[in-house]
Amino acid sequence: MSSNAAAWLPSARADLVVGPAAMHEPGPGEILVRSRAVAVNPLDDVKQWTGDLMYRWLGYPAVLGEDVAGEVAAVGPGVTRFAVGDRVAAYAVGMERGRRHEAEGAFQLYVVVREDLATPLPDGLPYEQAAVLPLAVSTAATALFQDDQLALRSLSADEPPTGETVVVWGGSTSVGSNAIQLAVAAGYRVITTASPHNEARMRELGAELVVDYRDPAAVAAIVSGVEGSPLAGVVAIGAGSGDAAVRIAAAAGARRVALLSPPVAFTTLPRRSGPSIAFLRTMTTIGLAQLATQARARRHGIAARVRLGELSHDQQRRTHAVGAVLARGSRRGPACLCPRVRNRRGRSGEHSTRAEPASHRRLRPKARRPPVAPPVGVGGRD
Ligand SMILES: NC(=O)c1ccc[n+]([C@@H]2O[C@H](COP(=O)([O-])OP(=O)(O)OC[C@H]3O[C@@H](n4cnc5c(N)ncnc54)[C@H](OP(=O)(O)O)[C@@H]3O)[C@@H](O)[C@H]2O)c1
Repeated sequence: MSSNAAAWLPSARADLVVGPAAMHEPGPGEILVRSRAVAVNPLDDVKQWTGDLMYRWLGYPAVLGEDVAGEVAAVGPGVTRFAVGDRVAAYAVGMERGRRHEAEGAFQLYVVVREDLATPLPDGLPYEQAAVLPLAVSTAATALFQDDQLALRSLSADEPPTGETVVVWGGSTSVGSNAIQLAVAAGYRVITTASPHNEARMRELGAELVVDYRDPAAVAAIVSGVEGSPLAGVVAIGAGSGDAAVRIAAAAGARRVALLSPPVAFTTLPRRSGPSIAFLRTMTTIGLAQLATQARARRHGIAARVRLGELSHDQQRRTHAVGAVLARGSRRGPACLCPRVRNRRGRSGEHSTRAEPASHRRLRPKARRPPVAPPVGVGGRD
């Protein structure tokens, strides 16, 4: 086996530095993945940008990264679902409290991941597309299905549609694109938000109504779109989405809102240590906005729960269930090459015009920032 290398965060707010890393052995219930592609999440930005505001237990130098796709290089004791050489995507949990970021952070060539947070890949799905799935799928699944979030009916191929609606504010985010597909697969009608250039894509994923989130009348348009079908809940994704989500829930009679994003993106904070006017302003804005959102929710009897990145028992269960769905889809035929969504800065990826069977629509990746290659030797032979 080759040697390992990682993209290290040497200290708070520093740039990543590629350097040698120990080769870790997978423990019981773990596998070692030879990384072929990883994805960058807002969480990685936030940790790098804000120093010890979050994930202060990590220490330095740290290995960040949650999403990895590659081949199984070794299996630990008791692993039954995977063998060496299998193509997988996995949710790497090195940043979680109590885990080993040096072994389990995704930004390295050889990553240790938990067997129950990995899924086999359909043959036709490229690593670069698979790598954007794990954290986004897991977050979306948790928000929709976990008991203390929207607690929706689970994924089911056999049950009839519920006749209820779910609003996904932020459908064109990676998390939102997965939330739309999962909610539709679970039997819900979906209303979502996106910029106009992503409307057709949102409909392809299964949304019935797409509203521009920058339109001042967006909340009213969504509430009127809900009319006639009970609103099961609202998922709020994107900076500032929480207040709009609670207003929709209040107007349409929903009792549950899942809040996935802060009122202001943490990356607006200055990348330097110590208090500053910008830091105080951002934190005050976040605090006041959260208080206002929670007060409005309470007035209307709405449970508006913040869902942070921590890995709960239920999340593990859901992630595993989603992996099973992906595997089931792959047995029905070749997986799609997924069209990519254009973002506001005009990035775009390849577009497929191929018609796809409905079974393949469930878990298609949506492009986020371009997946970055692992630091060294990608695509080369070991
Ligand atoms: N709580 C958790 O555990 C958790 C986990 C993962 C992510 N998150 C949060 O979820 C959010 C999305 O992350 P991601 O990685 O999925 O994002 P992403 O894929 O980078 O999403 C980018 C897209 O979001 C849309 N967007 C931008 N600002 C928006 C806003 N204010 N409201 C609605 N949509 C907006 C834009 O789409 P258009 O081009 O259509 O305008 C943009 O292209 C972030 O706030 C992130 O911090 C939370």
